[in-house]
Amino acid sequence: MTTGFTLWFTGLSGAGKSTISEIVERELRALGRKVEVLDGDVVRTHLSKGLGFSKEDRDTNIRRIGWVCEVLSRNDVIAIAAAISPYRAVRDEVRERHGGRFIEIFIDVPLEVAIERDVKGLYKKALAGEIKGFTGVDDPYEPPLDPELIIHTDQETPQASAARILTALRQLGYL
Ligand code: ADX
Repeated sequence: MTTGFTLWFTGLSGAGKSTISEIVERELRALGRKVEVLDGDVVRTHLSKGLGFSKEDRDTNIRRIGWVCEVLSRNDVIAIAAAISPYRAVRDEVRERHGGRFIEIFIDVPLEVAIERDVKGLYKKALAGEIKGFTGVDDPYEPPLDPELIIHTDQETPQASAARILTALRQLGYL
């Protein structure tokens, strides 16, 4: 039996997926585990280079990330996906393909807070109409209906969120 699993972070741009995934990665490595993070922004510079943000392209991006997570997690690696992954159906498809050992974590933040943070300045552009089809502004985000964990990043620090994720992994028997 593999000791790997996939931690799937979904949520709006600016919710805190990358920040929390980096902390969780560090902490899992400190426990002696092999970990790989597949971050949407990074994946789009190679594996998904050339894909845009239409529903079709986003679904393709998520299927690719999902496949890599599947391959890694069945080989004792902890795969962490950090991509908006706005569509429920394709997230569920990736979950199904894993046949268990898949933990979906909803990185939840009110849209207003993400807009206020606007780390990359993209919400400003989307709200000004300079970027079309931006998730949460004029493109859909479908929250998970039954995630293993929900993290409210406007209510605690990234360190506290990471600690809660580690606790949940222990409770679920993954660590
Ligand atoms: S996903 O929808 O396919 O899961 P992914 O997580 O890979 O998205 O990429 C999201 C990142 O791309 C955002 O954090 C942002 O930096 C950038 N981006 C550029 N255009 C868009 C857009 N139209 N909607 C959302 N994010 C966008």
